[in-house]
Amino acid sequence: MTIEAPGTTAYLESLVDVATGELDRRIFSDEEIFDLEMKHIFGRAWLFLCHETQIPKKGDFFEAPMGKDNVLVVRQRDRSIKALLNTCTHRGNAVCRAEEGNVRNFMCTYHGWTFGLDGELVGVPGMSDFYRDELDRSKHPLRKVAQLDTYKGFVFATMDPQAPPLQEFLGRTGRIAIDLLAERGDIEARPGVQKFTLNCNWKFTADNAFDYYHPQITHISAQAVGMIPSADVNDTGGAKTDEGKALGVQRLPTDLDTLVALGEYGHAISGPSLDSMLRTLPPEMHELVTWRRNPGPLAALGPVGSRFAGHPHLFPTAWFTMDAQISLRVPRSAGVTEVWWFSFKDRNESPEEQKAQLGRQIHSFGPAGFLEQEDGENWSQSTAQTRGGASRDIPQLLKMGLGRGKIIHEDGVARIEAPVNEHAQLWTYLSWLQWVKGTDWDELRSATTPGDYI
Ligand code: FES
Ligand SMILES: [Fe+2]
Repeated sequence: MTIEAPGTTAYLESLVDVATGELDRRIFSDEEIFDLEMKHIFGRAWLFLCHETQIPKKGDFFEAPMGKDNVLVVRQRDRSIKALLNTCTHRGNAVCRAEEGNVRNFMCTYHGWTFGLDGELVGVPGMSDFYRDELDRSKHPLRKVAQLDTYKGFVFATMDPQAPPLQEFLGRTGRIAIDLLAERGDIEARPGVQKFTLNCNWKFTADNAFDYYHPQITHISAQAVGMIPSADVNDTGGAKTDEGKALGVQRLPTDLDTLVALGEYGHAISGPSLDSMLRTLPPEMHELVTWRRNPGPLAALGPVGSRFAGHPHLFPTAWFTMDAQISLRVPRSAGVTEVWWFSFKDRNESPEEQKAQLGRQIHSFGPAGFLEQEDGENWSQSTAQTRGGASRDIPQLLKMGLGRGKIIHEDGVARIEAPVNEHAQLWTYLSWLQWVKGTDWDELRSATTPGDYI
């Protein structure tokens, strides 16, 4: 690849070559590119903050990241939701140190300025003695996000007043990504969010959601201990050991037909089709991978949406898993990413099934997740090798299925049906390039609207 001079649009364009399926490694380690990502992606996109069931009562709050900003998502007295920047308007201190909880107001621990649930400045120590009643409190509320909206209980916000409405940003593919979780039943967030830090660039965590090439090798340890079945017992699927069976884990679908959806602004869904996955699994595991418990969900998902069994990913960083979890990848620097795991349950499921699902959720992903330990080491090592003066000149390859990504348009979804491929990863970087260049909203939408081929 020929790389143009840094600091220009031509430089950014020279780092992503969709035609050859090659990426320059600098995009994973360059701090200036990271700053552009913060400004043009995380400063503009609608970002997932939390689920409404995490803040059911007035005064409930949850602290969520928006790029390098932190916002307090707060249930108001009138039941509406606001998201306030967690920074005091006096001299910047965080007004809340807790990650979630219930409050009547937020008092800054520096000088004691106090803000109401709606962010209004309601208390200033020494207002008459020190300020001589000359401070206009109405001019210094906590700042709010530019726009906040919800979709089926999932709360999103954007810092950009010009951003299109949430529904338009999500598009059909983004809405299906959420529906695959929202329509599983009467869902509720389980208490607490698991959080841990990886020394990796956030994009490795994002593109891996679509990678069905790695499990057979990366997760061979999980196979060896019987947590997931190994390839040599794949005729019947199912786990090899009692422990694996108890976890309800499934055969790794590396040899399945995949169904890929590409959506506007970079959203995508990729992985095995439901029919393909069900073909390979024993009947007792079908319930685990299908949400067709009643006709309602099927209608909401539509003829294409109801066929997905892969991984939905909302650009830039929210992965909705098969087993009712959301993984939010929070970039802290070019080389450091926090991974947050939100886990959900269906209120109508039996206590036994809820418990079994919790076991699967904890043991698969998160800090105690076997699979994520294996993935995380790859991401950290891959990131480290983007820094070497010689190593970084070797391009990253996304050539699997290149030139074979024929797109079929149906029911508002642009889909590709093919063996395991890297179409969704390529779509992610094609879209990433448009975002990071600072492309305006209209152009961004048209540049990330799927055509006939990728
Ligand atoms: S910084 Fe918050 S009261 Fe001074
Ligand atoms: Fe993995």
